[in-house]
Amino acid sequence: MKRLKGRSALITGSARGIGRTLAEAYIREGARVAIADIDIDRAGQTASDLGPSAYAVQLDVTDQDSIDAAIQTVEEKADRLDILINNAALFDLAPIVEITRASYEKLFAINVSGTLFMMQAAAKSMIKRGEGGKIINMASQAGRRGEALVAVYCATKAAVISLTQSAGLDLIKHGINVNAIAPGVVDGEHWNDVDARFAKYENRPLGEKKRLVGEAVPYGRMGRAEDLTGMAVFLASPEADYIVAQTYNVDGGNWMS
Ligand SMILES: NC(=O)c1ccc[n+]([C@@H]2O[C@H](COP(=O)([O-])OP(=O)(O)OC[C@H]3O[C@@H](n4cnc5c(N)ncnc54)[C@H](O)[C@@H]3O)[C@@H](O)[C@H]2O)c1
Repeated sequence: MKRLKGRSALITGSARGIGRTLAEAYIREGARVAIADIDIDRAGQTASDLGPSAYAVQLDVTDQDSIDAAIQTVEEKADRLDILINNAALFDLAPIVEITRASYEKLFAINVSGTLFMMQAAAKSMIKRGEGGKIINMASQAGRRGEALVAVYCATKAAVISLTQSAGLDLIKHGINVNAIAPGVVDGEHWNDVDARFAKYENRPLGEKKRLVGEAVPYGRMGRAEDLTGMAVFLASPEADYIVAQTYNVDGGNWMS
């Protein structure tokens, strides 16, 4: 039985990486998915790769008009919005004395404001329809504790965990479940970029940081985007109706909470 049959989902930042893999999983489970991304060309390519249950939507999560337009597009194309995954995010890395205001403001605008105002817009749409919904935020193990070179990104992901708690408690009265997933280290284009940044600041050859973080995972390897699909489908399904305001670690044992 398909667990998301007939559901309409919007996944931010799903042109590539984890978001794309979650979109594939939702489509396998019977959902229709808006591939919503600032990179509209790549979103269009991804949507055509994933087939007729996917469609591309232009979205900049830092821009309120863009958020409102994206939700309206989903309401028009799919008639309803049942599931939102706040997946779009940006990473940066610098020692405290080198952090720039521009980097701080950009990361908070995408990772925190983007998550909050996407939740707000989706919740308004779900409340108007009166049939509840599911919101899943992508947090990170980085939100569980600080890291010397990763202060700003860690702070944004701690904020995502906190917003998940508050929004979860507020929106459950409308039948909207808000929960989050905290991945560990997930291989892909994003981590290639992270590896290159660590190489610069920790004076390592390219690829070494990736190898080390993979070896340190209790499960024995880095995560793959596919490792997150079970939790993402479960949290969007009716099986998770009684789960409210939680953040689940899916990280091969890196963190316990
Ligand atoms: N990869 C990991 O190791 C890892 C670990 C923990 C958490 N996460 C989280 O998982 C999520 C996905 O990570 P990923 O590795 O697939 O990232 P990624 O960088 O591969 O993909 C991010 C996507 O977001 C899009 N995007 C960026 N700014 C946007 C904006 N303003 N509006 C709309 N879309 C925008 C990008 O175009 C891109 O398609 C993120 O929230 C990330 O913080 C990733």
